[in-house]
Amino acid sequence: MKTQTVIYIISNAIYNLYFHPLATFPGPWYGAISNLFYIRTVIGGSAHHELRKLHDEYGEVVRWAPNDVSFSAGAAWKDIYVPRRSGKVFLKDPTFYVANQTSRPQHLVTTIDGVQHAQAKSILSQAFSRRALLEQEGTVVRYVDMLMDAISEEGRKGPIDIKDFYNWVTFDILGELCFSESFGSVQRREADGWVATVLSVDPFFGYDVAAYRFSPIFEAILSLLVIFAPWQTGRNLRNHIGASKAKIMARMKREPERKDFCSYIFEIRDKRKLSDTALVGYSNAMILAGSGTTSVTLSALTHWICRNPRVYEKLKEEVRSSFHTADEITSQSASLPYLTAVINEALRIFPPFPFVPPRMVPKSGETVAGVFIPGDTRVGVHMWSTTRNPKNFKNPDAFLPERWLDPHSGDDLNASQPFLLGPRACIGQNMAWMQLRILVAKIVFLFDFELVDKEIDWGRDASPTVLWSAPKLMVKVVPK
Ligand code: HEM
Repeated sequence: MKTQTVIYIISNAIYNLYFHPLATFPGPWYGAISNLFYIRTVIGGSAHHELRKLHDEYGEVVRWAPNDVSFSAGAAWKDIYVPRRSGKVFLKDPTFYVANQTSRPQHLVTTIDGVQHAQAKSILSQAFSRRALLEQEGTVVRYVDMLMDAISEEGRKGPIDIKDFYNWVTFDILGELCFSESFGSVQRREADGWVATVLSVDPFFGYDVAAYRFSPIFEAILSLLVIFAPWQTGRNLRNHIGASKAKIMARMKREPERKDFCSYIFEIRDKRKLSDTALVGYSNAMILAGSGTTSVTLSALTHWICRNPRVYEKLKEEVRSSFHTADEITSQSASLPYLTAVINEALRIFPPFPFVPPRMVPKSGETVAGVFIPGDTRVGVHMWSTTRNPKNFKNPDAFLPERWLDPHSGDDLNASQPFLLGPRACIGQNMAWMQLRILVAKIVFLFDFELVDKEIDWGRDASPTVLWSAPKLMVKVVPK
């Protein structure tokens, strides 16, 4: 290494540690001096444990990279994600959301500019109106019933990995709602090629974010290398880009009977003159944002109720005494108090987006959870540390749906915001709730589950990069 480079690294570390505007913030020295700890944490698969450890040690405000502050205080949600009365907004961090136009094209999730985002969101919101949701419920029920048949049939043969089944059904539903064409995974009992590829390239996102933090040029080179690489990830990514383009082109030639997400995405294209690549970005983002999150919630819920027989019995009792047949189950009739509390608790104990959704503090600086943060600092609420912070939730590692029903529990329920708050909150949260209610009610009504591996503990063993990568969830299924 050249002497100048060594001098630069050392002087940069000294500046970050003693003279940086965040120098007095609590946090470990190894996080403050360079981005290496951040990079290692993002790709290491244990960011949730690492950040929680730091919050346990340093408190609710932690500087964990030279320019990054993570919060585990419930009050930070509103301060960071909801625009201020003054009109000031903490915009999305461009280094996290938009790295390049090849592997991460611009779409609803990655658009930074507030005006462009609001225009696209107001068009897409029509697909999530109350009326649209009512129309979509029939599709959801149809696929959930197909799933119940598949579970019944495959469960008779022996233990099944229920995580796969949840993945198939959530992708099938979103394929139908987005392209008016399902992926057919539940019927075939295997992930469609498109879905399998998406799931296999998912970890690349974490590497991409880490690479960008190392250097934007390095990230650009890495992306190109991966995309043109002769090995499997490269082939998967190329296949995925090709198949996604083909899917949207095929949809353009059809006029479905009812409006799907693409109908609205085409409206955005006409207003904003979007390229074909951006069209692919928009449609893929809807499917990816909606399916992985919902299916991981279903898996987490199954895992935690199986590990908590008292909760499972109480849930069965409520669901089975509320219906005579599974056909009576709708999103309305499944709005049962304990079932709702179980879903809320699953979203708390295993937030589907486990990371820190990063935002930039406006130039003049702002106060977050009572602490003044200098302008241009990257901030966010770390979901895992916040929902497991004993100041927010008593006995935070225990699965206790009752906390959502007891007004005197003393817990700060608003500290769990799995869908986020403000203008960048999840557009699909009502749809997610609809799917979760129907699916959980039906599955609990129709089957008894038992974990094959009694020692399994997703709280310990699941590993996130940016999204979750969780172990198999083998269960024995017995029809009720
Ligand atoms: C349990 C299920 C779900 C959870 C926990 C969840 C969570 C989230 C979170 C945390 C964000 C903000 C991400 C960020 O700022 O980086 C988000 C955004 C988004 N979600 Fe969801 N989501 C779920 C289901 C869905 C569904 C079913 C759809 C629809 C098909 C969907 C579509 C989106 C979209 C398009 C955005 C971007 C919104 C924007 O930037 O305006 N999500 N979701």
